[in-house]
Amino acid sequence: MTTGHFISFEGGEGAGKSTQIRRLAERLRQLGHSVVVTREPGGSAGAESIRDLLVNGPVERWSPLTETLLMYAARRDHIERVIAPALAQRSVVLCDRFHDSTRAYQGAGGGVSEDLISALEQACLDTIRPSLTLILDLTVAEGLARAAGRGAVEARFEAKGEAFHARLRSGFLAIAKAEPERCCVIDAAQSMDAVEAAIWQRVQAHLATRRP
Ligand code: TMP
Repeated sequence: MTTGHFISFEGGEGAGKSTQIRRLAERLRQLGHSVVVTREPGGSAGAESIRDLLVNGPVERWSPLTETLLMYAARRDHIERVIAPALAQRSVVLCDRFHDSTRAYQGAGGGVSEDLISALEQACLDTIRPSLTLILDLTVAEGLARAAGRGAVEARFEAKGEAFHARLRSGFLAIAKAEPERCCVIDAAQSMDAVEAAIWQRVQAHLATRRP
């Protein structure tokens, strides 16, 4: 079946994903693409309700395994109601976080087994996988400082401590190394314009070589 393009954005806290997604969506729309911007956890009404449970409240509210199950409940609803229909309409879907966040945060960061996460991917994702993933990479200290500058909203994961965030950063870099065709690591310490240019170069190449 012919589908649109599914592009995910990943990275630790404070990497500047939302700004870059906005800028990329604007460029793509100017070129005439139909673009759907969405996010995880969330993106559909049901998944946004689950997001509220996950990102607010005390750190110890959920174990990493419970977080994984909630993330996948939210993800499945998001796929069924938003992502799959948008791809079927041949839109470009720009998703702020997707399955790699579970691998990095709950897997590398929280110690949930890779086998369990892979089993959930098999069961819940079907063929819905990003064909391009842009990983915005930043040191943990800088990322957490930037995130703290936004105030204490939805800060449950930020509060998990530096060692947790160092593990998840390594987790993202390991994913990029294991899947170089799909993943592109971008230095998020550069200026916003430089990050935007790096992203645009990679996305243009991707759209040119891969017909939807
Ligand atoms: P955001 O701040 O980028 O919107 O993401 C919300 C938080 O959810 C962020 O701290 C990362 C976390 N998260 C996970 O731990 N696992 C996941 O699978 C996803 C999608 C997000």
